[in-house]
Amino acid sequence: MVSKLAVLTSGGDAPGMNAAIQSVVKVAASRGVEAIGILDGFDGLIDRQFRPLTKRIDDGSLLLDSDLDTMASLGGTFLGSARSPRFHHVEHRQAALDFLAGEGVDGVVVIGGNGSMAGAHALAVQGDVNVAGIPASIDNDIGLTREALGVDTALNTIVEACDRISDTARSHHRAFIVEVMGRDSGYLAMASAVATAADAVLLPEHDRTFDEVIDAVAGCIRTSFSSARGKRRILIIKAEGVDIPTHLLVNEVEAELSDLDVDIRGTVLGHLVRGGNSSFRDRLLAGRFGLVVVEALLAEKTDVMAGWNLVEVGEPTSDSYIRLFPIASVLEQTAALLDGSSEITMDRVRRMEAIQGVLAL
Ligand code: F6P
Repeated sequence: MVSKLAVLTSGGDAPGMNAAIQSVVKVAASRGVEAIGILDGFDGLIDRQFRPLTKRIDDGSLLLDSDLDTMASLGGTFLGSARSPRFHHVEHRQAALDFLAGEGVDGVVVIGGNGSMAGAHALAVQGDVNVAGIPASIDNDIGLTREALGVDTALNTIVEACDRISDTARSHHRAFIVEVMGRDSGYLAMASAVATAADAVLLPEHDRTFDEVIDAVAGCIRTSFSSARGKRRILIIKAEGVDIPTHLLVNEVEAELSDLDVDIRGTVLGHLVRGGNSSFRDRLLAGRFGLVVVEALLAEKTDVMAGWNLVEVGEPTSDSYIRLFPIASVLEQTAALLDGSSEITMDRVRRMEAIQGVLAL
């Protein structure tokens, strides 16, 4: 039986992480289990940096740190986050395990992206502490979950930014190329292109050459701005993983279209997309993930991650939309997502190809 939990956030922060911390601690406390928060991800485990998030009072019940309520709606993570190269090394993981044992911690919740799940897996394999993961990354590139925490908020932010850009684009009869984050995954670009009725989308999954990208963008602008169509705005969403700097893309396309009188601008949304208060959907998902992973740890499960809405696979939980998966399988599926061999990636590319013509209308 787990008696004390540690929770940490790792990798790039994502909206919903704070709500997930709150959920984990509340569920733990409701079952009489104390919780501590590890500061700055796996680095905090190695360096013994933590803060108690519950306090046992005289009657034996647990009080929650009042910061949990204040922070739950905010973006980022109030525990801090980091990418920890040290955690790749066995001796640093051993230092972390020694620290956890010394504090009487026998369950760890890791909230983060695919690198964080790899860290969670390594910790679970090396030590006798139970470890459970909550997927959180705006990139939506984690295997065995349809959606990770932060994706919904990030998409809402992108849609709002593109609506604003569209206002000014229409006023000046301009074409905009808007770059969105996502590392090697085109998910944010793809989903936001549909939601903003963009004219085209550039995805790393398409694997186009430099010249093919220039031709696609120039072709889209030439056709869309033809006098017959009378369009006043062109919006092209470019995923960060398409390895051409946005300003270079703008310059190359302008050169290609030098026969036209066309104004093209580029905007890189960057980290703007990663911040901000979490959306309703991310908060709800955070609450549900928190419940399921604490229940898993209390049931002595380890090396598992909660996944959303893949109900035909994985181990059932008390939530009919959330299943548990071995983290090793999550990591395998994550690799397949990114190298294009996963059915989910192929499906995304197929769906994008199916609507390519629709986007350009
Ligand atoms: O993984 C989340 C993410 O925001 C990616 O979309 C992006 O490529 C990367 O992190 C940026 O990392 P950093 O904040 O270290 O610049």
